[in-house]
Formats: sequence, structure tokens, C-alpha cells
Amino acid sequence: MGQYAKDRYIEVIPEIEMPGHGSAAIAAYPWLSCFPEKPTEIPINMISNKSVEEQKNGKIKLVQETWGVFDDIFCAGKDSTFLFLQNVIDEVIPLFPSKYFHIGGDEAPKTHWKKCPQCQKRIKELGLKDEHELQSWFVQRIEKYLNSKGKTLIGWDEILEGGLAPNAVVMSWRGEAGGIEAAKQKHNVIMTPGSPLYFDHSQSENEDSVTIGGYNPIEKVYTYEPIPKELSEAEGKYILGAQANVWAEYIGNEKKVEYTIFPRMAALSEILWTPKEKRDWKDFEKRLPEQIKRYENWGANYSKAYFDLKTTVLPTDDFNGVLWKLETKIKANKIKYNKILDINDPPNPPAFLFYDKPIQITRSGKYIGWSTENGENLNNSISQKFSFNKATGKKITLTNEAAKNYPGDGAFTLVNGVINEKGFTRTKEFLGFSGANCEAIIDFGTEQKISSVVVNSFKRTSSWIWQPLTAEVFGSLDGTTWKSLSMTDDFVESKTVTGKGIMKMSFDSTAVRFVKIVAANWGEIPTGNPGAGKKAWLFIDEIEVN
Ligand code: ACM
Ligand code: ZN
Repeated sequence: MGQYAKDRYIEVIPEIEMPGHGSAAIAAYPWLSCFPEKPTEIPINMISNKSVEEQKNGKIKLVQETWGVFDDIFCAGKDSTFLFLQNVIDEVIPLFPSKYFHIGGDEAPKTHWKKCPQCQKRIKELGLKDEHELQSWFVQRIEKYLNSKGKTLIGWDEILEGGLAPNAVVMSWRGEAGGIEAAKQKHNVIMTPGSPLYFDHSQSENEDSVTIGGYNPIEKVYTYEPIPKELSEAEGKYILGAQANVWAEYIGNEKKVEYTIFPRMAALSEILWTPKEKRDWKDFEKRLPEQIKRYENWGANYSKAYFDLKTTVLPTDDFNGVLWKLETKIKANKIKYNKILDINDPPNPPAFLFYDKPIQITRSGKYIGWSTENGENLNNSISQKFSFNKATGKKITLTNEAAKNYPGDGAFTLVNGVINEKGFTRTKEFLGFSGANCEAIIDFGTEQKISSVVVNSFKRTSSWIWQPLTAEVFGSLDGTTWKSLSMTDDFVESKTVTGKGIMKMSFDSTAVRFVKIVAANWGEIPTGNPGAGKKAWLFIDEIEVN
């Protein structure tokens, strides 16, 4: 296969993952694990009953069938582990002529190594400081072997932890920091930051395919600059290029691979092959239809996300409701929309309307929109649900701005009437605060009687996202004298949207003109959790007042 590709000027680099993500090898050879007798921990979202059944019947080690990071990694204390890996390397090398060999190195929790007598013995004998240095030693041992076979090692940016192997090339995936650090250490680097270069992330805001989350549309790929501005010109020379990643946990066929890579791959290829000053998104857009004709000719299953109707929710000038804006990239002569549900006035027969300017929406309802040309529908419809409450569309200010990677649509995001129902993919529907509280002041304009506040937020501790430690609501008639109305630490997880939950505060009906809501950040991530000691993220998507 490597040769087939080489004949077509394509270099295929194999990746044999170690010491983590090796559950398939451990299932086949349990002695690779620090604890061969310890049954595989099965995540709750594991889908296949077959392996669970096998475990009931005495099979100890299972292949993980979901995405995730798992504690059961290769034992670094046993020499037999290295003998095994060297044998695998010996078998893989003849298949791929590339001078590079990727050994993974990412997402290897040190939980087992900390408890394993053989790993601990190794640390002592080598005088290593900790398990990170043990991983560094592990990678260096493999590097020596690969170098002896004329190969150059590539590893994910975790291989920086505990010290880089002397000739290693680093793939920077957890953002750009690892790549910057490696280039400063005079190591070659391939940039592949999750945002925007993971093509297993959604490319449409109306994604109808399973993705891991995140939103990496083609525009974002095109504007990516592979050489970080933090690097000097000399350091920038260490950036070999960039790569897109498509992980296939939930990709069951080639057509879906095509869907994830086309046309984003065209954007990535162009930025990597074109000097910065010659890159031009507008010009790329003009040429995109030609590229799409090629996909059509090949019969490739490309994504049409670029042609989605784009929707934006905007504040009104007089804080009365919200504006729904629709835009299309297609040469449509009409955008049509249709109010399909009015929660206040059911049943409301559908009325097809033509769109000419942003629509003012003043009560709960669901709308759909699509582009048409001469009466024909040009793309899939998009829908938007608005849930109105006393705060919707009202004037809102934030004491701390949201972090720059999760800015949503600014403070207005919290009162735009859009309650996130799609989870983390819809990044514009929530604000993220790193280590800081979310403190919002809403001005109703006139006195209102209120008796409850709901804070919509998220929780995914594996990604450092923690629910609010507490939520508190204050009321005021003048915007200066505040009275606490209620406080809660009760986070109720959503049964329908993964990672979402609400904090509800009810109190005696009170007349106020202003409310202040303080959602407290968890602060430092507690020990025993991913990212322990680092700042927790706080994600808030909507504040409802009734
Ligand atoms: C990775 O995505 N874990 C490299
Ligand atoms: Zn061990």
C-alpha cells in the first residue's frame, strides 16, 4: 500500500500507538497491561453487547469501542512490552517506505503506572523523577530502535512531557502550544490543532452526521495559518506543514470519510501550498464550484455544508424580541421561511413567507428556512426554535468578558431566546469562562414581577468543563442597590442533551427592573480529575427569567 501511494507521489506514514490507546493489543495479549488480571473498565456508552457478554464469560480484557481515554496502557516496566513493540515495528516497516514512523504517545493516563510495581521499579532503577519521565524514557527507547532502522519518530505533543526524544518530530494537536514549544527546542513540527484541523468535527451547524463535537467549517480551515506568530522566522522553519485528522471511531464506511474530508481538504491543501500573501478566501470561494464539479465527476460524497443557509440571531434596537437573520451562499433568487409552530397560539397553520430582511421575533416559536430558485428548493431546510421568557432580547451586560475561544455572539448569547439543544457543536450558542465567574446584569427596561431564574449550563469534566459551583440571583429597582433573591448549588443534568444541565432558583414574586445573575466558576479542577490543578471551564448558554 505504501508503495502504491508512493508511485502516486503520496507518502503514507504508519502510526502504531503506544503506550496508550492499545486496548486491542491488550485484549489480544493481556500481559502487555500493568495488570493482566484486572478486567477492562467499560465506559457506559459502549455499544456492543458482544464484548460485554464475553467479559461475563470470563474474558478479562476487551477492545474499547467508544472514543475516550483509558487507563489500561502498556506496561513500561516489562522488557517484554518493548520486545513485542519492536516485533510489531519490524512487521510494519516493510509495508511503508516513508522515512517517518508515528508512535502516538498521546492520551496515556499514568494511573496504572503509578500503582504498578514493575513500572515503579523501572523509575527507581533509572533515577527518573516521575511517570512523565517514564513515558519520556519509553519514547526514547523506541526512538533508538526506530533510528537504528533508519526511521524518524513522530509523536503527539504529549511526548514533550518529561523531555523530548532527541530526533523526534512533534505533531501539535492540543492547540498550537506543543508545536510552538517543540519548534523553540529546534524540533521539527507538524501542526494539527483540533480547531480547525480535526475533520471529525462538524462542518455544518445543522450537522446530521455523528461527530465528536466542535465546529470546523471550511472558512475556518482556510484562514488557518500553520506557522504560529509566536515563532521567529528561524523557529518557523521547523514547522514542516500541517495535517488534518479524521478519527474513525464512528465512521463505518468510506463514503463517510469522503463526507468529512471534502471539500475541507481542498481548503487545507491550498493554504499549505500557497504563500500566505497569495491566499484569498473570496477567490477560493469563486473557484469552489469548479472543485465541486470534480467531486461530482468522481462520484465523491462531499459535504454541502458550505451551502447551508446561515442563521444569526441579533438584538433589536429597542430590546423588543430578537432578530432572525438568514443568508445564503447559493445563487438563489429567494429565501423562503415558514413559521411552523407558535407555542403561544397553536395550531398556527404554516404560512410560507419570502425573506427580505431580518425577522423580528417576539414570542416562542419554531421557524424553518430554505433557499429556492424558480420554485425549486436548493438546500436542506434549517430550523430555529425560540423560547421566550422575560429576559429574552433584553439589554444585558457582563462584568467579565467570555474567553476569546468561546465568545458566542457576546453577552446577548445568554438572552437570545436560543436554548442549546445540540450540545458542544453549537459553539456560538454558549459563552465559555476560564477560571472566572459569569456575572450578567439584565435590564428589563421597566419594572417586572419575577419569581424564578434558570441558568442553562454544561458539564463535561473529561474536557475540564464544570457546572457552576453555585448560581445566585440578585434583584434591583435602580441598578445600584441589590438584594439577593435566591441561590443554589443544585445542577440538574439534562436527560436529552449530553453534557447539559440547569440550575433553577425559585423565590417569592418580587418587583425588579434589573437582575444580576452570578454563576460561580468551579475554580481549580479538583485532584483525581482530568486537568487537576488547572482552571475549570464554565459554559453558560442561556439565562431564563420568569
Ligand atoms: C489525538 O487526537 N488524541 C491525537
Ligand atoms: Zn507497569
